[in-house]
Amino acid sequence: MLEIFLTIFLGFILLVLFYSFWGRRRRNGEPPLIKGWIPFLGKALEFRENSQQFLTQLQKEHGDFFTVLIAGRYITFIMNPLLYPSVIKHGKQLDFHKFSDSAASRTFGYTPMSSGHFPGMSDRIQRTYTLLQGPALDSLTHSMMANLQHVLRHHFLFTENSGLWEKAELYEFCKSVMFQSTFNTLYGHLSYLHLDELREDFEKFDNFFPLLMARVPICFLGNTKAIREKLQRFFYPQRMAEWKSPCDFIQDRMSIFQQYDALQDRDKAAHHFAMLWASVGNTIPAAFWCLYHLMSCPEALAAVREEIMNVIGEKNMRSILQEDIVITRQQLEQMVYLESSVNESLRLSSVSMNIRMVQEDFCLRLDAQNSIGLRKDDIIALYPQSTHLDPEIYDEPQRFQFDRFVEDGKEKTDFYKCGQKVRYYRMPFGSGATQCPGRFFALNELKQFVCVTLLMCEMQLMDNQHEVSLDNSRAGLGIMPPANPIPFRFRKTLGGTEREE
Ligand code: HEM
Ligand SMILES: *[C@@H]1O[C@H](CO)[C@@H](O)[C@H](O)[C@H]1NC(C)=O
Repeated sequence: MLEIFLTIFLGFILLVLFYSFWGRRRRNGEPPLIKGWIPFLGKALEFRENSQQFLTQLQKEHGDFFTVLIAGRYITFIMNPLLYPSVIKHGKQLDFHKFSDSAASRTFGYTPMSSGHFPGMSDRIQRTYTLLQGPALDSLTHSMMANLQHVLRHHFLFTENSGLWEKAELYEFCKSVMFQSTFNTLYGHLSYLHLDELREDFEKFDNFFPLLMARVPICFLGNTKAIREKLQRFFYPQRMAEWKSPCDFIQDRMSIFQQYDALQDRDKAAHHFAMLWASVGNTIPAAFWCLYHLMSCPEALAAVREEIMNVIGEKNMRSILQEDIVITRQQLEQMVYLESSVNESLRLSSVSMNIRMVQEDFCLRLDAQNSIGLRKDDIIALYPQSTHLDPEIYDEPQRFQFDRFVEDGKEKTDFYKCGQKVRYYRMPFGSGATQCPGRFFALNELKQFVCVTLLMCEMQLMDNQHEVSLDNSRAGLGIMPPANPIPFRFRKTLGGTEREE
């Protein structure tokens, strides 16, 4: 027994020695290299534990750029937002789509688009993204407005007893409202669709999402594979054909998939499932933070409520519990304090990492003083959370300040670091050519969600509850969800008239 143990131990020591002598070495002109002493894993554990703290510490020791070994990949982090433009501009040598195609196909279970079987499909899919923006956004906004009101009215119906407070949990509330209204807006309606069950499975899958993205094989993750198959089955073409009035964006995707014989029904379904994840995976936690911050800050809540009322008028306010009202895209645009509150919520909760894959060995010029050597297949990463929490750019960065992005009644866009204007000061949706194509829809949805909720009910956080904490396991992957339950109470508004306690 002891012998076996000793052999393993010695083997391990040899591996570590081998690795530290013959593993990758820093070359001239390359950024500082941090690879830790554990072969392959490198600094993966420290990164997962608290990436923001870990990276800030490395920035203090090594400067604004450095390369870290994380789970078999060499990732070069650029930590200073003043250096972001050179990375964002370099589309040719720094590619995003290869990485996202391989990560997404593995995670959601479809054949990679770059596999050569589907010529032109990736480009055609990229073109459908215009159907989430511009003129197409009008009809999406219209449909979302109706769906939100329908779902929320249904939610509040059981509180027939209007004067009374009801208790609920805030994240659960946001999940159920946003999941259903977003689903109906994008994929359409069908009376016997069991969306509660779909959402349950979606959440089970989503819990393992960070591990899948970290390239843990799905067979190690319990019944995740079976759950993913069930989720995919939901989107089989013959089922989707029966859904009423899906949006143009989803219809376009269906007809593109139809034209590729090499694409099996399983693959088509997996693509639709991936889009479901993209459309609600981040929007739901974002909706939570918007409401949570507003409820925690009476001054913000009052200002935003007043702005909403001014824009939509008293008549709409009175009738919303009885009949659908319309809030147009133009009206939403006028709500600048609401928009600033949403953006401020995203600033505080976004932990997305912007990733580019290096296509060839080359030297990247960062600014007048700095260039760095990069190797083919390495990854270059921007970590916007460090910018979002930079005290030089944002005064008291940890504090929610609802009007942070408003100045003289208009959007404020000048933020400074070292006396220089920062161009990329807030980037929850990524950057450059690879920015999230759903960002305009997402922002509208979040504003609509806050509007309709505040118009239909009064909400309060329960007294003396725990401060909310963040679920760190999702570092690098979008919007962080809350880690603990947040109880709150709500009651129907009386058509906008103020009520005595
Ligand atoms: C608050 C909500 C949302 C956040 C924070 C968010 C964030 C992001 C981020 C960070 C990326 C990667 C971009 C990059 O790395 O450069 C992305 C990609 C994407 N998002 Fe969003 N997103 C949100 C909502 C949505 C919605 C509502 C939709 C669709 C209706 C959507 C569709 C997509 C798609 C399709 C991609 C992949 C684009 C590609 O592969 O080229 N997102 N999103
Ligand atoms: C909020 O963020 C969006 C997307 O990043 C941007 O287009 C919009 O102008 C911002 N508005 C305000 C008031 O900050």
